[in-house]
Amino acid sequence: MTTSHADEALSTLPTFPAPSSRAEYEAALKRLHDASRSYYGDGDSVLDDTAYDRLRLAVLAWEEANPAEVAPDSPTGLVADGAAPVGDVEHTSRLLSLDNVFDAEGLVAWGASVQRRLGRAPAGGFTVEPKIDGAAVAARYREGRLVQVITRGDGSHGEDVSHVIGQIDGLPERLAEAVTVEVRGEVAFTQEQFEAANAVRTAHGAPAFVNPRNGTAGTLRAKDRPYRLRMTFWAYGVVELDGVAFLPAGSTHHDALVAVAAAGVQTTAASAAGLLVVPGLAEAQARVDAIAAMRAELPVGIDGVVVKLNDSAEQAEIGFGSRFPYWAIAVKLPAVERQTVLQDVVWEVGRTGVLAPTAILAPVEIDGSTVTRATLHNPADIRRRDLHLGDTVTVYKAGDIIPRVQAAVVHLRPAGATPVPLPEACPRCGGEINTAQERWRCAQGTSCALPALIEYAAGREMLDIDGLGKTYVAALVESGDVRDVADLFTLTIDRLTAASGSSKRAAKLAEQLEAAKARPLSRVFCALGVLGTGRSMSRRIARHFGTMDAIREADALGMQDVEGIGPEKAPVVVEQIAALAPVIDKLIAAGVNMTEPADPAGAPGGPLEGKVVVVTGKMTGPLEGFGRSEMNALIEKAGGRAGSGVSARTSILVAAPSANGKPSSKAVKAAELGVEVMTPDAFAELVAEGSHREAGATL
Ligand code: IVH
Repeated sequence: MTTSHADEALSTLPTFPAPSSRAEYEAALKRLHDASRSYYGDGDSVLDDTAYDRLRLAVLAWEEANPAEVAPDSPTGLVADGAAPVGDVEHTSRLLSLDNVFDAEGLVAWGASVQRRLGRAPAGGFTVEPKIDGAAVAARYREGRLVQVITRGDGSHGEDVSHVIGQIDGLPERLAEAVTVEVRGEVAFTQEQFEAANAVRTAHGAPAFVNPRNGTAGTLRAKDRPYRLRMTFWAYGVVELDGVAFLPAGSTHHDALVAVAAAGVQTTAASAAGLLVVPGLAEAQARVDAIAAMRAELPVGIDGVVVKLNDSAEQAEIGFGSRFPYWAIAVKLPAVERQTVLQDVVWEVGRTGVLAPTAILAPVEIDGSTVTRATLHNPADIRRRDLHLGDTVTVYKAGDIIPRVQAAVVHLRPAGATPVPLPEACPRCGGEINTAQERWRCAQGTSCALPALIEYAAGREMLDIDGLGKTYVAALVESGDVRDVADLFTLTIDRLTAASGSSKRAAKLAEQLEAAKARPLSRVFCALGVLGTGRSMSRRIARHFGTMDAIREADALGMQDVEGIGPEKAPVVVEQIAALAPVIDKLIAAGVNMTEPADPAGAPGGPLEGKVVVVTGKMTGPLEGFGRSEMNALIEKAGGRAGSGVSARTSILVAAPSANGKPSSKAVKAAELGVEVMTPDAFAELVAEGSHREAGATL
């Protein structure tokens, strides 16, 4: 971080209480020393990255304002904040760090500094590659054999960690050719390796690593562990060793990594985020955004994207500062890992009876959203990780993926903290738990959630089975007559009488059940209770596919054609439908309708075709009593789409008159945006116009 960036970065990151006196500065400096020792060393993490960066920026800002009082031992001006354990192996040439920027503006500012130093615009283009979040090492190959691995240390001297040779994927002990070269790059645990490493560690009674980076630093330095942990290497640079030329003169950065890869060493180009050569910084920024977007899917953690001048002559021309090269810049990505407190663990029972634990966390902001819950896998995993209530834990969230708890920061565990309690009875039905497998289940399996599911399926907007209330459902489930929703349709009058205690009620229900067989597919599908498919989504799915057969045939890609189903939801929906095959088959055998009737009003020509309609207030007149879902159904039937908030894309706002006579906030916004506002009466009339064309269609 250059001094000039401190103010800019402080304004874009949340601030750390900045020192306002010499004493506060010294206290902050001490915290920074402690934190950076653990950040770069193998100690336990005492601050997460965001907090660390904020503290560092606060110290820098104070130093900028009080240049005469900068402590001689301030770590802010040194490579790796002067905290990395220094070894005794001299580096071939200084192993430097990178300057950081935090946004597109920062990248443009770096581009201007490059141009200033060169005296012209660079002509050789830029490379863009991921910034792997691990530990830097120099790997020396002589005659094709890996002879020495050295940590960064203070940049001029590092530690010999050659004992890790053979433990690092991507860094082979022998190369394809007998070349002599020093390869520089990052060693890290992939997510998979990290989880395996923590399982091994806890099995040996060692505390779990709090995050992959800390684990890497510790593993590189540990010589006498009774176990070996696999890590992975990605090369990002090459230097000449023993004066032996490795690259032809004039090779670009891209050429260098191609040559390293050809020799058999993995490079950043081999990661999914790859290495791209681009002509200018606009394209570089686009690639930064693209890599940021794929962050959640990458097998290894990245904390930024590195942009470099590709041309080695241009690199040489502008050279290095004391801590970093002027020809490269790291565009830092927001931290996706933070520390917070594990307050509780709640257990939910899934449709199949699986007990799923969720961590309740002290609210923490990660990448722009507040995280309060995170997934935990299963009881065995909770025990393996030795999680205690009150533990400070590391939480990871990238992109849209659900946050997950990585590990407990054991040295911050409060005295007297107890291990996370595991349930002794099913949290839903209070019954026995089957603990035979890693994923615990309610011994009742699907029956545990069954009464709620049957009541849902019988609801007015699903199968609309009048008279099938709570008590009736409970009796049918209790007797074993109903084990899934399809069983409803094979109930005999005798069984119905037994459950209801009245042959009259049984006859009425049998009539209702018969009528329910003819409900449109959208309602039948909704009655299955597929997670993530409520009434509107079920309507969209049924309309899109038309038949249950077509729904069942759809794979995850086909499912994404339905509006509102993205790449994350699609496989989950497809998987649930497949698991429901026996129930669907039984419904078909019972003669339940499996097609969606053509929707004339929804077809081109419906009065709301192509329109987005937002509804606000309590409906009146002909629409009195219409709730949100009835209104949505009405809008969709007339060819429109229901929206939730008023925006420039809204076509009509249906606004009920408010009780106090004042226009609602939605009505005010609609007026501002020039969106048409209609009363419920006028809207009913508009929609009715369309439905008159279809005999029998009603509001
Ligand atoms: S280039 C002389 N490229 O990030 C150029 N560094 O925070 C030095 N890092 O010290 C580094 N991925 O340990 C470069 N693709 C990449 C990188 C990368 C990770 C590390 C490296 C560096 C640190 C700076």
